[in-house]
Amino acid sequence: MTSPDQSPALPIRTPRLTLRPHTSADAAWMHALFAREDVARYLPYEPWTRAFTEQKLAEHVAKNGLEHEAGGLTLAVEHTETGEAIGQVLLWYTDREHGIAEMGWAFDPAWQGRGYAFEAASTLLDLAFDHYGVHRVAAHLDVRNAASAALAVKLGLRREAELRDSEWLKGEWVTMAIHAVIAPDRASR
Ligand SMILES: CC(C)(COP(=O)(O)OP(=O)(O)OC[C@H]1O[C@@H](n2cnc3c(N)ncnc32)[C@H](O)[C@@H]1OP(=O)(O)O)[C@@H](O)C(=O)NCCC(=O)NCCS
Repeated sequence: MTSPDQSPALPIRTPRLTLRPHTSADAAWMHALFAREDVARYLPYEPWTRAFTEQKLAEHVAKNGLEHEAGGLTLAVEHTETGEAIGQVLLWYTDREHGIAEMGWAFDPAWQGRGYAFEAASTLLDLAFDHYGVHRVAAHLDVRNAASAALAVKLGLRREAELRDSEWLKGEWVTMAIHAVIAPDRASR
């Protein structure tokens, strides 16, 4: 583990992707992504308006490391060869003192189904455990979100619980699934 008090070296390059902090220049592609009905379907928001995109982007620009007060790291994911922004991965503390975090992900449907989300999210997970030394990372998802559940399982996040009608979202009760990986799971890989 490197020092969790220091920012990780960014950007991070994976075989096909570049993970970098957000900049204010990301508003256009982020809006195009999160304004889509299919992308927002299982997110806890309606499709984003332009104003909401600007608000979220400002938060993401501020949340550029778990070491900072905001306690979050949001990375834009670019396809290195084409330079196109294709998605976003997020990691944030829910309990900083004890190293308990949550993560999330969203990718442009045009780029889905080719392992890019896995490539980016597994890199963020490595950063969580190996750089920040977290103990637990969870993902909370709508049980109907099959793509997200498949990604979580592939990342090694075990399905731990199903919380029936635990959230009221978009005019209906939603049953959430909790997936998580803890440090001992990683040690025994
Ligand atoms: C969740 C999301 C990031 C997954 O992206 P993706 O491009 O499918 O991910 P990957 O290509 O890396 O695939 C990961 C695994 O999931 C599997 N998978 C993808 N969609 C699936 C589906 N609908 N049903 C079952 N498995 C699926 C893939 O086959 C792959 O497994 P494999 O390599 O063993 O074949 C994407 O669907 C998305 O951005 N959705 C909208 C935003 C969202 O809902 N975010 C999550 C909120 S909790």
